[in-house]
Amino acid sequence: MEIFLDSANFREIEHWLRQGVVDGVTTNPSIMLKDGVYGLEEGARRLCTLLGNRPVSVEVTTNDAKGMLEQGRTFARWAPNVVVKIPVVNECGDSCLGVIHTLSREGVPVNTTAILSFNQAILAAKAGATYLSIFAGRVSDEGNDPASIIRGVRHWLEEWGYPAKVLVGSIRAVIDVQSAALAGAHIVTIPPQFLSKMVDHKYSRETVRQFNQDAEKALAQISQYKTAAQ
Ligand code: E4P
Repeated sequence: MEIFLDSANFREIEHWLRQGVVDGVTTNPSIMLKDGVYGLEEGARRLCTLLGNRPVSVEVTTNDAKGMLEQGRTFARWAPNVVVKIPVVNECGDSCLGVIHTLSREGVPVNTTAILSFNQAILAAKAGATYLSIFAGRVSDEGNDPASIIRGVRHWLEEWGYPAKVLVGSIRAVIDVQSAALAGAHIVTIPPQFLSKMVDHKYSRETVRQFNQDAEKALAQISQYKTAAQ
């Protein structure tokens, strides 16, 4: 399974890249705003450089299909690792599958975003999307079970031979990462604060502390023996 960072915070991304656990980055206009990246092109180009050849998802910022297509083509020229994020529907409920299909046929990798149901996911896969972003937290907000959607979509993709990858976003707690991973997500995109929580454990700290203390005691014993032998 791959791990993406759901962030536009350069310092956090650099930190986690150095830890060797980051396979890509996802952003959206809210993340860009929160992390102080106000200039989309400059921010996206900087992220793409930082990530090397790993994918960086950049979301369109318009509600009409023609505008999405134009933005998608423009974003794709910014860097070879740009992935264009297109919502499955716009804010009026109009299908964006045509945009996803056209960009995908032109060779632009598309991350279909704001997916909240099994049916939306399979339609995006049929339209040619590279990534299917299932929003686990928002699925839960609606009283539905993200794990059963993730499991179902993963099974369906394999059953019918679609190459799209299940990318689980909208992570609201550490347990969501575990649930998504065990339900069969190909990728989970994680806000950096949860990665910090995932790696830490108070009993691990205590265990390491105990080992360090015993190592110090062993050294003290050696110097005691040396002194006695002199
Ligand atoms: C990632 O691709 C999504 O844009 C992001 O995870 C959405 O998260 P939210 O539901 O917390 O806004």
